[in-house]
Amino acid sequence: MFLETLCERISNTIFYQLKIIKLNAIDSTNTYLKELGKDLMLEDGVIVITKKQTKGRGQMGAHWQSKSGESLTFSMFKRFSSLPIEHQAGITFAVALGVKSALKKLQIPGISVKWPNDIMSYQKKLAGILIENQFKSNVISSSVIGIGLNVNETKFENLPQATSMRLNTGVVYNLDEVLTEVSEAVMIELQRVEGGDFLKLKSDYEKVLFRKNKVSVFENEAGQQFNGIIKGISEEGFILIEAENETLQQFRLKEIKMLF
Ligand code: BTN
Repeated sequence: MFLETLCERISNTIFYQLKIIKLNAIDSTNTYLKELGKDLMLEDGVIVITKKQTKGRGQMGAHWQSKSGESLTFSMFKRFSSLPIEHQAGITFAVALGVKSALKKLQIPGISVKWPNDIMSYQKKLAGILIENQFKSNVISSSVIGIGLNVNETKFENLPQATSMRLNTGVVYNLDEVLTEVSEAVMIELQRVEGGDFLKLKSDYEKVLFRKNKVSVFENEAGQQFNGIIKGISEEGFILIEAENETLQQFRLKEIKMLF
């Protein structure tokens, strides 16, 4: 019954009825949605989108910038009934796969996922994802999933590694249409997280990893550079890198940086 209020079923495909809060400006859609979730019993799938973020947040305390009205900056609320903490990485896998599949549908070329969840087009970053989980006892009760997707921007000052959908295809996109594609695809992939599909999600994610099985240069926490080959992802969501001495080592997000 609950699902019926959220979704329309059309020929075996679930289309999410999007519940969107549109704001002209806000510090960060993730911060706003997290605060809202403390006061209200938010419905699964609520989205907050803004034209302008004044304090957009990225991973590991970074800043997220985008030009007002040219790109998408939004956050989605996902409720889980009781997701074990061990399956936390499944959320990362599902969100990245959802964004990737929407971009494929929109015919954006060269899409891959740079661990943990930078969405790349060829060698450049097209979108960033910031997932913030809420816990109850020892399960994950909900997630706020923030997505910054460069859509129609054509200039990225001091960000030589950034690109946009428009720069890739020459097309000027309708932001509402892109939002619908991306958020529906993410919600559909997220259904797999609680559906006992963890290992399949992980293997699907591993298939789309940026620079998998290629020699890349990494820098560890001590600032040492080394050559390694991305082999896959552990069940905890750590990256598995084969070092030059052929040992397989795993790293958490803060422990490693890919240089090229
Ligand atoms: C990253 O690549 O570092 C993650 C960037 C995430 C940016 C999005 S924009 C919408 C949402 N609100 C935020 O403050 N951050 C996320």
